[in-house]
Amino acid sequence: MDKHHYKPKRGLWTSRLGFIMASAGSAVGLGNIWKFPYITGMHGGGAFVLFFIFCIVAVGVPIMIAEMVIGRHTRKDPVGAFRKLRGGPWTLVGWLGVTAGFVILSYYCVVAGWAVDYLWLAVKGTFSGKHIQEVPELFTSLLASDLSQLFWQAVFMAATVWIVLGGVSNGLERANKLMMPVLFLILIVLAVRGLFSPGGPKALAFLFTPDWQKLDATAMLEAMGHAFFSLSLGMGAMLTYGSYADEGTNIPNVALTVSIMDTCVALLAGIAIFPIVFTYGMAPAAGPGLVFKTLPIIFSQMPGGTLIAIMFFLLLVFAALTSSISLLEVVVAYYCDEKKWQRRNATVVMGFLIFLLGVPSALSNHLLADVHFIGGRNFLDSIDLLATNYILPLGGLLIAIFTGWVMTTRLARGEIEKGAVNFHYYPVWHFLIKYVSPVLVAIVFLSRSGLF
Ligand code: PFF
Repeated sequence: MDKHHYKPKRGLWTSRLGFIMASAGSAVGLGNIWKFPYITGMHGGGAFVLFFIFCIVAVGVPIMIAEMVIGRHTRKDPVGAFRKLRGGPWTLVGWLGVTAGFVILSYYCVVAGWAVDYLWLAVKGTFSGKHIQEVPELFTSLLASDLSQLFWQAVFMAATVWIVLGGVSNGLERANKLMMPVLFLILIVLAVRGLFSPGGPKALAFLFTPDWQKLDATAMLEAMGHAFFSLSLGMGAMLTYGSYADEGTNIPNVALTVSIMDTCVALLAGIAIFPIVFTYGMAPAAGPGLVFKTLPIIFSQMPGGTLIAIMFFLLLVFAALTSSISLLEVVVAYYCDEKKWQRRNATVVMGFLIFLLGVPSALSNHLLADVHFIGGRNFLDSIDLLATNYILPLGGLLIAIFTGWVMTTRLARGEIEKGAVNFHYYPVWHFLIKYVSPVLVAIVFLSRSGLF
C-alpha cells in the first residue's frame, strides 16, 4: 500500500517508532505507578492482578486494535470518526469519549501535581535520612494544603497545554521518545531491590497467589475498568492517535507491544512497592497515597537515594505528561476537526476549563474533605470511579459492538491489512471483538449491578 496515499492536512507521526512511543506514552502513566499498586492492595492482590491481566488480553488488546483501526480509517477525532462511519446515535460514542477525556484529565492533573510536589521534595533532599514514620506524614501534609495542590495542579496543566500546543510531531512525538526507556530501567532497579529485601517473598506471594474469594463483583469491575484506564481505552485516545498513523503501520503489532509494555510497567511498580509495604509492616490497602508513602522510605535509606528519588519522580511526572497530553489531545482534536477552532485556541481554552473542573478534586482532601459522593468517597475518588469503572468500559463496550457488528469485515480487515499484510490472526481478533470483549464487559457490569 502506498505510504503517501493519505495526504495529511492534519498532523502525522513522523515515524512508526514515534507512533508506538506515543501510544505507549499515553498508556503508561499514573495508572501504572500510582493507581495499579493501590487498587491491587485494596482488593487483596493475586486474584485481582490475574483478572486484570486477563482483561488486558481478552478485552484490552482487541479494543485497542479496534480504536486504532477506526482512527486511521477515518482520519478523524472520535466524534467525527463515528459520524463518518455510521452517524446517528453512534456519534454519541465519540461524544462520550470527548467527555471522558475532559473529566479524566481534570483529576489526573491533581494526582500528577502530587508527583510534581514530590519531585520538588526530592530536589530539596527532603527524603534523605528521614525516619520511616516521617515519610507517610509528608503525604498527609501535602493533602492538608489546598494551596500546594492547586499550585502543582496548575503547573502540571500548564506543561500539558504547552506540549500539546507544539502539535503532533513536534510536541507529542518528541516528548515521548526519550524518557520511556529510562523509566523502565529505574523501575527494574527498584523492583530488583525490592525482591531482595525482607518483604520481597511476601510481596510476590501477595501479588501472584490468587485467593479467588477476594475477587467479588466490585473487584472485577475495578480490574476491568483499570484495564481500560491503563491502556487509555474506551474514550477514543487510541483512536485519535491512530488517526495520525501512516498506512504502513502494523496496528496489531503496535497494540500488542503497547499492551505488553503497559502491563510490565504496572507489575514492576507493584514489585517495587509491595516489598516495602511488607518489610515495614504497612497496610497494603493504604489507598491512593500508597506509592507516595512507600517508595520515599527506600530513597531515604539507599546510598544515592536523593538522586534516584529525583530521577524517579521526574520520570513519574514525565509518564503522567505523556498520558495527559493524549487526554487533552482527544478534546482538542474534536474542537479542531469538528468545530474548526484553531489548534492554539482549542488547546488553551480547553486546558483552562479542564483545570477549573479539577479544582474541586484538588480541594477534595482538605477544604472539601467532608463533602462525600459515591459510597462516601470524596470528589476526586468519586469522579475517578465514575470515569474509570463506568464511562470507559461503557465506551469500550460500544466500540467493540460497533467494530464487531456494525463495521463491515471488509473495511476492518482492509484497514488492518494495509500495514499487517496477511494478518493470520484476523479471525481470532474478530472473534474476540465480536463476542468475547462485549460479553465480558457486559457480564462484569451486570454482576456488579447485582443483576447477574
Ligand atoms: N493510561 C493512562 C494511565 O495509565 O495513566 C491514563 C489515561 C490516558 C487514560 C489517556 C485514558 C486516556 F485516554
